[in-house]
Amino acid sequence: MSLKAPRGTNDILPPLSLKWQYVEEKIRELLRVYNYEEIRTPIFEYTELFQRGIGETTDIVEKEMYTFTDKGGRSITLRPEGTAPVVRSFLENKLYGEAQPRKFFYIGPMFRYERPQAGRFRQFHQLGVEALGSNDPALDAEVILLGLNILEKLGLTDLETYINSIGCPKCRADYLEVLKGYLQEHREELCRDCQTRLERNPLRVLDCKNESCSRVVLEAPLIIDYLCDECDEHFNQVKDYLDYLEVKYQVDPTLVRGLDYYTNTAFEIKYRGLGAQDTIFGGGRYNGLAEEIGKKDIPGIGFAIGLERLMITLEEQGIELPVEKGIDLYITTIGDRAKRAAFKYIYHLRKAGLKTEMDYLDRSVRSQMKAADRMNATYTIILGEDELDKGVATIRNMKSGEEVEIKLDKLVEHMSM
Ligand code: HAM
Repeated sequence: MSLKAPRGTNDILPPLSLKWQYVEEKIRELLRVYNYEEIRTPIFEYTELFQRGIGETTDIVEKEMYTFTDKGGRSITLRPEGTAPVVRSFLENKLYGEAQPRKFFYIGPMFRYERPQAGRFRQFHQLGVEALGSNDPALDAEVILLGLNILEKLGLTDLETYINSIGCPKCRADYLEVLKGYLQEHREELCRDCQTRLERNPLRVLDCKNESCSRVVLEAPLIIDYLCDECDEHFNQVKDYLDYLEVKYQVDPTLVRGLDYYTNTAFEIKYRGLGAQDTIFGGGRYNGLAEEIGKKDIPGIGFAIGLERLMITLEEQGIELPVEKGIDLYITTIGDRAKRAAFKYIYHLRKAGLKTEMDYLDRSVRSQMKAADRMNATYTIILGEDELDKGVATIRNMKSGEEVEIKLDKLVEHMSM
């Protein structure tokens, strides 16, 4: 049996990889304007970081992590997300000593052992941003705007923005008591997992996908009705900033997100055309995460865009990405001397920034011309004994058919015009 890529993973092949590059470049341009700087953290971390950061009773930590013991006996986990690693790095490198807030972004693979389906994979890629060191609601609004800006810049439309506030540990404690009481009354209708969650982390029952649990959740008390004055005010200011810039959004009081670190603002941006996995990006505030990981009181807010979902949405919405196709010049060679000369010419042409190719398979002139055609070459040139002896050759424009005779020692100059 021939080997296959593991279930839930994808090869990103050309020309799709060129589209990915284009999208990433466009996003980087915008991130620069918003003053976000790239951070690169390891692909794996100590398991404890995610257990403490994301929360022991979340689906991610309970069921979806790629965890193994390394040869030194340490428990290691392939990162299922980027927020906890960024906060870990921020604390470890004492970046809180510098001017705040610090704004970071990352692009890279994440790993979750989920049931693969359309838009859901076991290795997927996120573009994430994290702004650390400020609790200003303006930053919450800015982060949401940045995410929407990225999608708009790529030409996406028909997006739906949902926001909610899930309060702080203070007001959440009151809410959790009420929620627990309500869920106790419906205990029998909950799935086995949720019966345990009910005791350990009732908030997680709210994002259970089980049908019967979802029915119970429909009537559950809402956290937004239990916010303390401070959290209420924070949420009002976030909405005010969004209104001020005429951002269309809906408050979804059932939105609680699947990770335990969130406080206050939570948001998700959806494209309905994606089907069941329709959230392109999600995020929120996590003012308690730095405390949990490193005993430091540092507020933070961010989001992560699922890049596979973003690429699928671009495809669904028929957005053509202007990716480079073809090469500038193909040098067809006849004989060893010409091959040697071509080898030198393409070296100099490439140094001058021209995308150039030649034959490496000792093919006939006809086959080389076919190859040039397949490569979508703009120009071709044929080099043989005669051309080398005279020091001149004919460059053919493959689109127009126009031919120009040039001196070979002026090839780079001519092609650079
Ligand atoms: P998340 O909601 O778990 O949040 O993931 C963010 C996005 O990653 C999702 O909206 C989705 O587009 C994509 N995604 C998640 N799981 C998969 C999967 N199995 N297959 C394909 N795409 C997936 C976080 O990860 C937080 N760290 C976001 C954040 C940053 N919050 C604050 N800062």
